[in-house]
Amino acid sequence: MTERPTFYITTPIYYASGNLHIGHTYSTVVCDAIARYKRMQGYDVFYLTGTDEHGQKVEDKAKAEGKTPKQFVDELVGGIKDLWKLMDISYTKFIRTTDYYHEKAVQYIFNRLYEKGDIYKSKYSGKYCKACEAFWTESQLVDGCCPDCGRPVEVAEEESYFFRLSKYAPRLRKLLTETDFLQPQSRVNEMVNNFIDKGLQDLAVSRSTFKWGVPVPFDDGHVIYVWIDALSNYITALGYGGEDDANFKKYWPADVHVVGKEIVRFHSIIWPAILMALDVPLPKKVFGHGWIKLGGQKMGKSTGNVVDPYILAGRYGVDALRYFLLSEMPFGADGDYSNELLLKKINYDLVNDFGNLVKRTLAMSRQYFGGKVSAAGEGTDADGELISMINGLLAATDADMDGLTVNKALDDIFALVRRANKYIDENAPWTLAKDESRKPRLMRVMYNLLEAIRVASTLLLPFFNVGPKKALGALGVGLPDSFDGAKYGAVSEYTTTETETIYPRLDINKELKELEEISRAAEAKAQPAKEETMQMITIDDFCKLDLRVAEVIACERVEKSEKLLKETLKVGEEIRTVCSGIAKYYTPEEMVGKKVVLVANLPPRKMCGIESQGMLLCAEKDGKVVLLSPESDIDSGAVIG
Ligand code: MSP
Repeated sequence: MTERPTFYITTPIYYASGNLHIGHTYSTVVCDAIARYKRMQGYDVFYLTGTDEHGQKVEDKAKAEGKTPKQFVDELVGGIKDLWKLMDISYTKFIRTTDYYHEKAVQYIFNRLYEKGDIYKSKYSGKYCKACEAFWTESQLVDGCCPDCGRPVEVAEEESYFFRLSKYAPRLRKLLTETDFLQPQSRVNEMVNNFIDKGLQDLAVSRSTFKWGVPVPFDDGHVIYVWIDALSNYITALGYGGEDDANFKKYWPADVHVVGKEIVRFHSIIWPAILMALDVPLPKKVFGHGWIKLGGQKMGKSTGNVVDPYILAGRYGVDALRYFLLSEMPFGADGDYSNELLLKKINYDLVNDFGNLVKRTLAMSRQYFGGKVSAAGEGTDADGELISMINGLLAATDADMDGLTVNKALDDIFALVRRANKYIDENAPWTLAKDESRKPRLMRVMYNLLEAIRVASTLLLPFFNVGPKKALGALGVGLPDSFDGAKYGAVSEYTTTETETIYPRLDINKELKELEEISRAAEAKAQPAKEETMQMITIDDFCKLDLRVAEVIACERVEKSEKLLKETLKVGEEIRTVCSGIAKYYTPEEMVGKKVVLVANLPPRKMCGIESQGMLLCAEKDGKVVLLSPESDIDSGAVIG
């Protein structure tokens, strides 16, 4: 038996730091469609996806939730795997950067680079973006902020190991300008002009300010920079640096790394440089796709502007969401998501075009021929265009998929679907059926339509999970596992059966209202988390607070209130009255004599008829409330800040 050619495709590995949205789903669904298409073309496909689980962001988030980093990522990874199951993703392997074999192999890689002299120890002082875990030079900043995420950067100094990235600049320049390594071409100019030609600096590849990472094998105080850890996944998943590297030998170099445009830099500069240093062949291609935007804005886990793929796929089916993602985004460019666009595409393309073609044709085949339709019958010149579209479709989609223009492949398939619908109207089978002498012509018309449906459905299989399978089932031809039969005449007889509606029609206005309600509820739910993590203040904002030490000199319960205590406070020479909602936690007697922290410059506010002139600071957790006090004695009126 001859060996099948291999095809290795990867998604980026997703940060295990929050729930995924339809933007992430896009990268994965695109790769899935390509992987399935290649399998049907006869390739031995290895499709890799996974999760990027180390780094300061994860450590911080886990801490905020009172979990260990491992507990935190384990919970998220479960949800991510569920999402890929729901979206019918056919990955070969799911790698986690916390997998033991990966961590060991990353240490092996780091060691090799160190032994080769491509990693050395030095001191770093620069601008650091905590969110992206990246150091930037002054010239790389955009308006003084991180060029990737736009957040403010901080000055940081760290002892660090460095990778000699600068040494590889000439080879990288050649790779990007003289080969097709990076696509689309527009991304090449960006990389060369903005990074290589501005002067590549050596890269800090270890961190000593947090612990959640793969330890540098020969220096306990450092963990390996998360991007070195993450990028290595593409080879460690195949066994590189481990005990069994058979898959590495078989599938590497990757045919394509599909990545979003904001991480093209890591994949087209840092990753090839590391591989060059390791003497490992380079991947054949890096493809930088665009972003799905919401009203022109980037969706992000931290903007609160997230569209939940669970909800959309749950409500409208996997095919609908896959179809939207695959068809609406011109591959390589940005696209926009809106509820309305999604719903219209479902009704127009899936329901009206594909669903209707199948439903009408099957119903007629049963009505006129009891479901038994064959190639016998009378063909005419009028069939030529439809037949040549059927026969030309595979070559067209092959070319589209070779160019990774997945949306064009879908356009081509739907062009055949629409042509077939038009063919029904042109040939008016209902008129032919009235005339017994036209039966042979009617038979051929039905046969041609069934052939169009069969070929279109076969080619749709890599993209969709439900519709084409139902259609092929009703045609009685079984599920093909290759495109061999994707041509006119490959099936000469059909016995069709009735099929349930493939895609139900949506009431767009009703759905729009319901989706709006769902997204409003989701935003309201996300609000507290957003405030905790996102609302940064400046030091000037902080200085606006007048915080003082105050002494409670008298205290009583407020009548008619279960919650409130009324305190009389001495603040230096001043006496103030403050009401606090702490009656459940402190008795008036316990309060008297305490030194507490008062926010002294809040506007007075009436509470149960009493004017409260400020607020006492308390800490709260799990229903427990305690007052804040100075750590040792100090006069009331002392300024806090
Ligand atoms: N962990 C890194 C990748 C390491 S790969 C060695 C990372 N993770 S991510 O979770 O932030 O993003 C993963 C992918 O999702 C990226 O390709 C990114 O572009 C993609 N998307 C995230 N939001 C997106 C959109 N709104 N639209 C399209 N893709 C987007 O980066």
